[in-house]
Amino acid sequence: MQRKDEIDFLELLKNPVRLFGLSYFYFLTVAGFIGAYYIWNMNDVSRNGIAPVLLRDSTQFVQDIPMQRGAMIAPVNVTEVGRSSKALIDKGANLFKANCVSCHGDNGMGDGLSAASMTVKPRNFHSAQ
Ligand code: HEC
Repeated sequence: MQRKDEIDFLELLKNPVRLFGLSYFYFLTVAGFIGAYYIWNMNDVSRNGIAPVLLRDSTQFVQDIPMQRGAMIAPVNVTEVGRSSKALIDKGANLFKANCVSCHGDNGMGDGLSAASMTVKPRNFHSAQ
């Protein structure tokens, strides 16, 4: 049988199965080009798809904080803090009623409601013991 160098397209039409043999090289070539294209554009492939402009970061976050005038806080006189006064005693009595009465009792006798269930009894403030 004589070997033919060129592809005889008319003969391919008569015997189409031979086309599949050629398609192998066709797909190989296409795959090669796609692979080369991928490698040449590797930098773009590895970049983030989301443009950073779309992301809100803390530097772009704007919040409306109402304007306030500057004000001086009244200074604390440290020499007066330790000195007893009616106002301080009332303040302390209110704090004691709010936070301490449940255990230490209304008069600080260690007989508050919660004291009954305690193994270590709350201190009786009227006793030096
Ligand atoms: C949950 C119950 C409870 C509450 C509420 C509570 N105490 Fe007590 N307190 C105790 C008990 C129990 C003791 C005794 C602890 C001990 O003997 O180890 C104690 C002991 C004390 C002592 C003595 C501490 C010492 O070392 O001798 C003081 C002072 C005191 N309480 C003050 C307060 C004050 C002031 C408040 C409120 C702000 C308060 N307690 C609230 C349970 C309570």
